Amino acid sequence: MAEVLFTAKKNLNKKGYLDIDVDPTMDLVEEINKLKKEKNAIILAHYYQESEIQDVADYIGDSLGLSQKAESTEADMIVFAGVHFMAETAKMLNPTKKVVLPDLKAGCSLADSCPAPIFKKFKEKYPDHVVVSYINCTAELKTLTDICCTSSNAEAIINSIPKDKGIIFAPDKNLGAYLVKKTGRDMILWNGACMVHEIFSHEKITKLMVRHPEAKFIAHPECEAHILNMAHFIGSTTQLLKYTQNDPSDTFIVATESGILHQMELASPHKTFIPAPPTNNCACNDCPHMKRNTMEKLYLSMKYELPEIILEDWVIEKGRKCIDAMLEVSAKAGFKA
Ligand code: 13P
Ligand code: SF4
Repeated sequence: MAEVLFTAKKNLNKKGYLDIDVDPTMDLVEEINKLKKEKNAIILAHYYQESEIQDVADYIGDSLGLSQKAESTEADMIVFAGVHFMAETAKMLNPTKKVVLPDLKAGCSLADSCPAPIFKKFKEKYPDHVVVSYINCTAELKTLTDICCTSSNAEAIINSIPKDKGIIFAPDKNLGAYLVKKTGRDMILWNGACMVHEIFSHEKITKLMVRHPEAKFIAHPECEAHILNMAHFIGSTTQLLKYTQNDPSDTFIVATESGILHQMELASPHKTFIPAPPTNNCACNDCPHMKRNTMEKLYLSMKYELPEIILEDWVIEKGRKCIDAMLEVSAKAGFKA
């Protein structure tokens, strides 16, 4: 076994995960729960994870809730069932804890769309502007950011910035454009986008709404403006979930990653949830990055405590300031995990 682990570790950089065979007859849920106790570990999962991972998690949430949990946990090991920038954020917020991510290559198209060295040059053109970055960005980009935001608190964060200050918003142009409309602030937008939220088809959603006139159409603010303009409600994943619980409608057309439907169905079993159709012929709205994590990889990451998120001290120190600033405004505005 030592040899297998050695080879698997060597492959880690190439493959991004421990490539070790897992006995297919093993009860993964039981083993994962055992490892949680043995290692005093907590599993934090984003709503976009596959349903089996959500079911074994200790906390399921949106990016803001997950950050708040990562900061407050007393577990020795944080197992992050999400994507790379989320695990990095957890490490920055709780640097003495070991943070593992089942697959290091679980990235994000938004984070990739804004490389820190290029952004640094861009930012130099606007020396008096406040930099607001969506939390979906790399740790290095956070070192160039004044205050972070998530889709839950973005409006409150923008409103917390003095009116006479110019703002650069990175990296999501769709969330940025939505915020310009909501807050009336004239912001300079970085040209990034989420590959999952940009694929929804206006035409197919319109047809679906005609077929289901009773349905509410709900959308995440990472969607494009022409999709958001059709929505009865716009919000972060947690806000969308709460809306489906509180709204009296029985049917919802949901424009975000399909993983959230699991919690919507659990919370309101008598209601119907229809994933909004994308422009391509694929029937699903899966994030390929989020879905790189599997139960097997989750189990292996807990057993061997690998792949681990390691950040340089200066990145943690400098990068965390913008997350702290965000959490402070969020706490004052009453956002709780
Ligand atoms: P929230 O978790 O803020 O809803 O954002 C969704 C998302 O795209 C995460 O990658
Ligand atoms: Fe990134 Fe979009 Fe996937 Fe979220 S859903 S991790 S923003 S690519």
